[in-house]
Amino acid sequence: MPKIFSKAPIAIDAIKDKKYAWCSCGLSENQPFCNGAHKGFAFTPKIFTNNEDKKIYLCNCKQTSNPPYCDGTHNKL
Ligand code: FES
Repeated sequence: MPKIFSKAPIAIDAIKDKKYAWCSCGLSENQPFCNGAHKGFAFTPKIFTNNEDKKIYLCNCKQTSNPPYCDGTHNKL
């Protein structure tokens, strides 16, 4: 099970077609993004892009069912 980094999503202004690597393990010190801290654990970052410039809400509890996006699961933790 990934580490709960925080029980609130984080908003970012995503840039169209930019590639991001969302941390799925909760260990990165560069949240919400991967910094390689998952090495040695059974996690890999979720690589994603967006097809437009827009504000998005990324999961920071790492328990979402729709990674990398917040799905409200943090409210049940
Ligand atoms: S540091 Fe968490 S997935 Fe890479």
